[in-house]
Order: sequence, then structure tokens, then C-alpha cells
Amino acid sequence: MAPTAKLSLLLILAMAMLSARADHHKETNMVVYFQDYVGVPNATGIPFADIPGKLWTFISFGTVYCTDDPLTEGIDRDSAPVGRGQGLYVTSALDGSSLLVLVSILFTNKKYKGSTLQIQGTSRIFEKYREVSVVSGTGKFRFARGYATFETVLVDSANGYSVIQCNITVRSG
Ligand SMILES: *[C@@H]1O[C@H](CO)[C@@H](O)[C@H](O)[C@H]1NC(C)=O
Ligand SMILES: *[C@@H]1O[C@H](CO)[C@@H](O)[C@H](O)[C@H]1NC(C)=O
Repeated sequence: MAPTAKLSLLLILAMAMLSARADHHKETNMVVYFQDYVGVPNATGIPFADIPGKLWTFISFGTVYCTDDPLTEGIDRDSAPVGRGQGLYVTSALDGSSLLVLVSILFTNKKYKGSTLQIQGTSRIFEKYREVSVVSGTGKFRFARGYATFETVLVDSANGYSVIQCNITVRSG
């Protein structure tokens, strides 16, 4: 084979390998609902630290919440369970406008049982849609990367209850 023919064959092979690798990335889209209870006896989100002398609220700089919310398939709290959203929220803006969100999604549903996704990002709490990043995952989500949006879709302040819709888009594999 002539050297130029060899070279172009190599190029074609390399390009085929690159595109095969790109195709291999699988995109997963899902919607889950965080069932959140705050300030009630059976709360799933509880502030446990703050700067002395300041209020312990979502909009007070330095407040740290621990959370373990049930995640469901639908907005209804009695809809099928998907897993748990466990982690921390820290009011990280001096003016109280954003939270640092560090949440692990632990799947318990049939499709992803035992797998996790790691959410980390800034949630601008006064915006309708809050976009955060999905930095990694385990199990079926090894090497996952992507983003998630949060939108509060139900608020029942009398019962400290709210539901947050979370749309997740990740690529993995
Ligand atoms: C907390 O209690 C209320 C009232 O009994 C109930 O509706 C709600 O489902 C409970 N939340 C959790 C997370 O158990
Ligand atoms: C999240 O997904 C739902 C259902 O597909 C859609 O109605 C909603 O607009 C999405 N929200 C965002 C912020 O993309």
C-alpha cells in the first residue's frame, strides 16, 4: 500500500473509533419530586448550624440544613417512591439569595436500585427554575455528568410542606 493510502486508512479508523466513543455516551432524562417537610415534628429538612446570633432560616447567611427527603415519581406524596434525596443545604450568599446544594440521590426504584447521583450547585432560591450540576454517580450512573433543575410546584406553608420538581439530564457510560 502507498504511504498516503496507509495514512488515510489510519485516519478513517481513528475517526470511526472517536465517533463510536461519542455514541457510547448514554443520555438519561428523568423527573423526580422531592417531598419536603420543614419546621414540623417529622421534618425531612432540619437546620443544625448557623452563625451565632443570626436566624436559622433559608435566607440567613451561614445556615446549614441537613435533609433526607422522600423522592417520588409524581407530585403526589403517595405516588411511587423513587428513592431519597440526602445531603446538605448551606445558605451561601451574604444576602440570602442562594444556597449551596450538596445532595445525593439514592435510588430505590426497580430501574436504578442501588445507584446514586451526586448533585452539587448553587440554587438561586428566588428564581422559578434553579439549575444545578450533576457531578457524578455510581452504579448505573458511573461517570455521569449533567445538570438538574429545581422548581417548587406545591407549597403548603401551614404544614411546612412543599414539593420540588427536579428534572435530571445526565450522560454516562
Ligand atoms: C408528616 O406528618 C404529616 C401529618 O401527619 C403527614 O401528612 C406527612 O406525610 C408526614 N411526613 C413524613 C415525611 O412522614
Ligand atoms: C421538567 O419536566 C417537566 C415534565 O417533562 C416539564 O413539564 C417541565 O417544564 C420541566 N421543567 C424544566 C425546568 O425544564
